[in-house]
Amino acid sequence: MSVAAASPRLPQPPVLDIDPFSDAVLTDPYPFFDTMREAGPVVFIKPHGFYAVGRYDEAGIVASDYARFTTAGGVGLSDIRKPGAWRPKSPITEVDPPEHTGVRAALQAILSPAVVRRMREMFEQEAELVAERALDLREVDGVRDIIEAFVLSVFPRVLGIEVPPERLIITGELNFNQLGPNNERLQRALKRAEPILDWYAEQLKRDKMLPGGFGERIYQAEDSGAFAPGSAALHVRSFFRAGVDTTMAGIGFTLNQLARAPEQFAILRDDPAKIRNAFDEGIRHESPRS
Ligand code: HEM
Repeated sequence: MSVAAASPRLPQPPVLDIDPFSDAVLTDPYPFFDTMREAGPVVFIKPHGFYAVGRYDEAGIVASDYARFTTAGGVGLSDIRKPGAWRPKSPITEVDPPEHTGVRAALQAILSPAVVRRMREMFEQEAELVAERALDLREVDGVRDIIEAFVLSVFPRVLGIEVPPERLIITGELNFNQLGPNNERLQRALKRAEPILDWYAEQLKRDKMLPGGFGERIYQAEDSGAFAPGSAALHVRSFFRAGVDTTMAGIGFTLNQLARAPEQFAILRDDPAKIRNAFDEGIRHESPRS
């Protein structure tokens, strides 16, 4: 019996005729999230033809039950398994176990707490510089003067790649928009990025990795057989995509929330040791998204 013949008897999820990628929803997604949660455990998003889960329990199942919910089709809307896929799959985020398990272990060795601890001094020095420069300003733009100044300076150094900050913003915008539908926003991002796409592909290659960065360690891991031959550039690309906009949005949302809640900011100023909790709480309140 075919699935098509059986499907009319299955309960059908509520259909939402709302575009989650519209400017209105992206600017203020919370009413849409409420609608999704109230409608049911699973909804069908009509404008783009996909199913979505908005409640905590179901989101946990979809994120962890890889036997039923694969990521092999891609973490974005378009199915990268289909002919004409617009990019090769990420060797870490777009593979399921058991393949994912080995790749993840190799990446964890590269990103181990000991390695991250060694980078801490560099993070702290740069943070001091950014803070000092911000103190010299009469008015501080949190995104430009703190977040971009910090992340766009430290992240390429961590990765071990030389990338001008303005180009990181362009590739970041493209990366996030490529996960959504082929809409006007994606077309604008593509147009902006088009002149630097060849340059971007070049920056992921072995000879561009600076000594001591994660990129160099990724190529070494490929040489030692920990990663599939030829996948190192794609791992560097995944790091690129994973580490910039997420951290900028995370710090940005946290600063924004502190600015809106002066009494919380005062608690933090009196006891800066609470900063870690404040950041965790910040990204819990407002998940980094583009
Ligand atoms: C606040 C900042 C960040 C947030 C909110 C964030 C969020 C996420 C999320 C939601 C996933 C998907 C997890 C899953 O599929 O189960 C992920 C995966 C990943 N992230 Fe991040 N991330 C952040 C920063 C970073 C940074 C700085 C890096 C790199 C230095 C990074 C590297 C990765 C990698 C490699 C994966 C794939 C892991 C795997 O599939 O095993 N992320 N991240």
